[in-house]
Amino acid sequence: MLYQGTITNHNEAFQNRITQLFGIQYPIIQAGMIWASGWKLASAVSNAGGLGIIGAGSMYPEDLRHNIQQLKQHCSKPFAVNVPLLYPDIDKHMAIIIEEKVPIVFTSAGNPKTWTQHLKQQGITVVHVVSSAKFAKKCEDAGVDAVVAEGFEAGGHNGREETTTLCLIPSVRASIKIPLIAAGGIGTGRAMYAMMALGAEAVQMGSRFVCTPEASSHQAFKEAVVQAQEGDTALALKQLTPVRLLKNSFYKQVAEAESSCATIDQLQELLGRARAKLGMYEGDMTEGELEIGQVSSIIKAITPAADVVDEVWNEFVQTAQNPFAY
Ligand SMILES: Cc1cc2nc3c(=O)[nH]c(=O)nc-3n(C[C@H](O)[C@H](O)[C@H](O)COP(=O)(O)O)c2cc1C
Repeated sequence: MLYQGTITNHNEAFQNRITQLFGIQYPIIQAGMIWASGWKLASAVSNAGGLGIIGAGSMYPEDLRHNIQQLKQHCSKPFAVNVPLLYPDIDKHMAIIIEEKVPIVFTSAGNPKTWTQHLKQQGITVVHVVSSAKFAKKCEDAGVDAVVAEGFEAGGHNGREETTTLCLIPSVRASIKIPLIAAGGIGTGRAMYAMMALGAEAVQMGSRFVCTPEASSHQAFKEAVVQAQEGDTALALKQLTPVRLLKNSFYKQVAEAESSCATIDQLQELLGRARAKLGMYEGDMTEGELEIGQVSSIIKAITPAADVVDEVWNEFVQTAQNPFAY
């Protein structure tokens, strides 16, 4: 029973290691996402009983401080900040996180050894995002409190190994003892149930939460995600940092460059600066970089974040009570 929670009925308390670690009601986590998850989205999810995460990767240090302060004014429940460890001003971000007494930090895209102990000495719970069982073990050895294992279906930056969530979760489960959060391709309560059956103790959803009114993403991007069909995303820029994108004109330029053996420098030049902001925040659906996951093909509406939490949780509970009734 080490990894299991007990489900009684919809409204009664559910407890497992993740809900206890974070002090939340439901083991549903809204991913930290550049140009999408500011304080409005994170506070809506935390207020609904999940864990909301501010995505610091697209914020200048003072924007991050503003977002944390706003969140604290609108929400008294636990929340987290995601910090991609490649961020150039990372020392400033971490100083703000400590000054503002952020309770939980999700680090990603870097070495978990670099910041974990420093943050933990300040009483902060630390979670790191990985895409392989080997790296999950490194995180455990570095002393993180929990791991997010993110499969190849996921939106945004992705593992080079291209391991799907279905294969990744059991293999990470077997490699670590600390709590495990599944990410990549999860958008429904049934998918959550599948992940929990494979040994995850919570789910982290990114793409699903892009399609909420509270996400700071541009409306045109949200609508394009709702329109997306199966096969409309692809992994690109593997030579730089692999990233799953909606197939638009910019993606096609990248794909053509890659198939004609463009060098890393040429790809870097094509990517340029601020492409992600141009697409996801400013709404240029042609030339912008549009990060989104395969699960976009089953997202059919822009739905308030609290309703997403409720809907996923209720479907999870119903599925747990009768898994084969479809
Ligand atoms: C628009 C977008 C931006 C993202 N930005 C980040 C980020 O800044 N840091 C990070 O660790 N992961 C980022 N991700 C990945 C998410 O944190 C999450 O793990 C992923 O979205 C899960 O897969 P899903 O999209 O299938 O739900 C991003 C994902 C999306 C869709």
